[in-house]
Amino acid sequence: MGKECNGCIAALLFCLLLGVLPVKSEGPLAPALYVFGDSLVDSGNSNYLSTIVRANNPPYGVDFPGGATGRFTNGKTVADFIAESLGLPLVPPDLSLSHIKRNETTTGINYASGSAGILPDTGTLFGTNLNLESQIDMFEDSVTRNLPHKFQSSKELSQYLSKSIFLVDIGSNEFIPNLISGQSINQQKKNPKDFAKLLTKTLSIHLQRLYELGARKFVVFEVGPIGCTPAMISNSSKGECNQEINDSVTTYNKELSSLLKSLNSKLKGSSFSQAKIYALWMLATEKAAKLGLTEDIVKSCCLGPSNGTLPCTSSQPSCKNANQFVYFDGLHPTEEVNSKVAEAVFSDSSVCSPVSIQELVEA
Ligand SMILES: *[C@@H]1O[C@H](CO)[C@@H](O)[C@H](O)[C@H]1NC(C)=O
Ligand SMILES: *[C@@H]1O[C@H](CO)[C@@H](O)[C@H](O)[C@H]1NC(C)=O
Ligand SMILES: *[C@@H]1O[C@H](CO)[C@@H](O)[C@H](O)[C@H]1NC(C)=O
Ligand SMILES: *[C@@H]1O[C@H](CO)[C@@H](O)[C@H](O)[C@H]1NC(C)=O
Repeated sequence: MGKECNGCIAALLFCLLLGVLPVKSEGPLAPALYVFGDSLVDSGNSNYLSTIVRANNPPYGVDFPGGATGRFTNGKTVADFIAESLGLPLVPPDLSLSHIKRNETTTGINYASGSAGILPDTGTLFGTNLNLESQIDMFEDSVTRNLPHKFQSSKELSQYLSKSIFLVDIGSNEFIPNLISGQSINQQKKNPKDFAKLLTKTLSIHLQRLYELGARKFVVFEVGPIGCTPAMISNSSKGECNQEINDSVTTYNKELSSLLKSLNSKLKGSSFSQAKIYALWMLATEKAAKLGLTEDIVKSCCLGPSNGTLPCTSSQPSCKNANQFVYFDGLHPTEEVNSKVAEAVFSDSSVCSPVSIQELVEA
């Protein structure tokens, strides 16, 4: 009996240990992931807009279950990988939701739109997009019209919003010559610092509006080394990175850092983290071999029209092994790079600073 009991206790302890560990990873780490941004994180909104900047045709989605969805890469985006790490479903594009479905969705909505920018005119040369202001208008609509039906009280809704993660990945298009308005490009060239200030001032207004609507936990992405994308390299006569663009982006990223620090201290209960992806991308570009990407880093899997500044169409030739490349098209990284970036932003507080997403959910 005594012997049996010892065995029992040992078995019980063993079961408890086994049982306790999985419990921690059961259920999502945050109630929702809301996504704002451009083509780097669009999950299909562009499909519903009148624009040539869309990716709902092959070769996009060759490595995505279900094929081309409007994601501007061969597989998953950074937002998709972060949703998975949080234990949430992939975040559906707002424009794909029926009224009934929007009423029922509490795990997050994606408002990102290809070619969109912080400034309202960015990207509009090629069609319509959802600029950052419209994206927040749409979120406000959800907060005031749809979400209240799913919560008992406004206090419960506030709690839910304060625990949700708000991912903002926008600003790249402000550094791409044929996507920004002529007026902005002149301004950027003349005085990168003033241009960066204009961008962060505008971004600040929008982030504060999200805060007023109930958002508290923010992950705001830096802009990557746009000057070293295949689109910019193939448009240079010497086949080099565009140093001027890289420098402008770096100036913006520094301003962004000051902005997020000041919002952190100004807005009570808020937490703004900066996803410092510039250096990561640069590293991927310079040391592709380290990531196991063996193809020529200057090339993309598929270079679209206009030296790669427009998306690939089904008639453009594309590679067979996209994940061997850093870039899928002229401007967008492959799923392989997205996965590495998301992993770092999720768990490495030197990349997502001052706190990683993992720490953000626990705060
Ligand atoms: C959303 O839900 C509310 C409450 O359940 C309902 O009154 C409203 O009609 C719904 N809207 C739609 C479009 O289904
Ligand atoms: C593509 O890049 C080449 C090389 O710099 C340039 O001569 C050409 O005008 C560019 N084409 C477009 C459409 O921008
Ligand atoms: C390509 O290079 C030309 C000549 O330098 C420039 O005028 C044009 O704006 C560039 N296009 C893009 C998309 O960078
Ligand atoms: C931008 O690209 C240039 C050219 O390759 C590179 O030397 C430089 O380090 C980059 N700029 C920054 C600020 O990273």
